[in-house]
Amino acid sequence: MSDLDHPDGVICPGGPLLLRGDHVVTDAQGRPHRTTRPVSAVCRCGKSSRQPWCDGTHKVLPPQARP
Ligand code: FES
Repeated sequence: MSDLDHPDGVICPGGPLLLRGDHVVTDAQGRPHRTTRPVSAVCRCGKSSRQPWCDGTHKVLPPQARP
């Protein structure tokens, strides 16, 4: 089994980037945020109120506004 079978990052079409394991994510202001869960969802739509994490807001966006 290789890393390709269990990647650290998986992009959800129209939604977040799911990160597995320990990582540091930098927000738009350059502040680092360490992951604290086994799997963390990173916002890709830019509309989450919990940046850089996904809060589910992408689900209510029109399809053309989703990442
Ligand atoms: S991707 Fe889910 S709120 Fe942005």
